[in-house]
Amino acid sequence: MTPEESAWMQAALEARERAYAPYSRFAVGAAVVDEQGRVHQGCNVENAAYPEGVCAEAGAISAMVLAGGRRITALAVAGVSPQPVTPCGGCRQKLREFAGAELPILVGDPSGLRLRTTLAQLLPESFGPDHLKNP
Ligand code: THU
Repeated sequence: MTPEESAWMQAALEARERAYAPYSRFAVGAAVVDEQGRVHQGCNVENAAYPEGVCAEAGAISAMVLAGGRRITALAVAGVSPQPVTPCGGCRQKLREFAGAELPILVGDPSGLRLRTTLAQLLPESFGPDHLKNP
């Protein structure tokens, strides 16, 4: 990872420490980078009514929008699992609202980078805001 990428991953790892995941015990942290280079963190927040839980990526997107960011230029996700913790299907679509196919996605854990991918790879032939534009 470049020094910049390492800082983003560090932000995701720090966010993971604040996860509220008493049901799954699976803590996730995320950091989205906006068009101004600002980093917005999120952690998963679960709920006794299980489907109401919110993913780390969704929290980070909300923080970005609240801060005035409108474009995601990079994403770092941190989670500990035998497999790299890639964003869930719903979050892939949420990311698509604010990013194009080229979006770099870094997936890591406390030991470092586990996977480098893009939104195009995780959500091919995606539906996005441009589909709603009238010809
Ligand atoms: N989770 C995330 O926050 N992000 C991901 O990328 C994968 C899954 C959360 C949702 C739930 O709180 C827990 O991890 C187990 O699925």
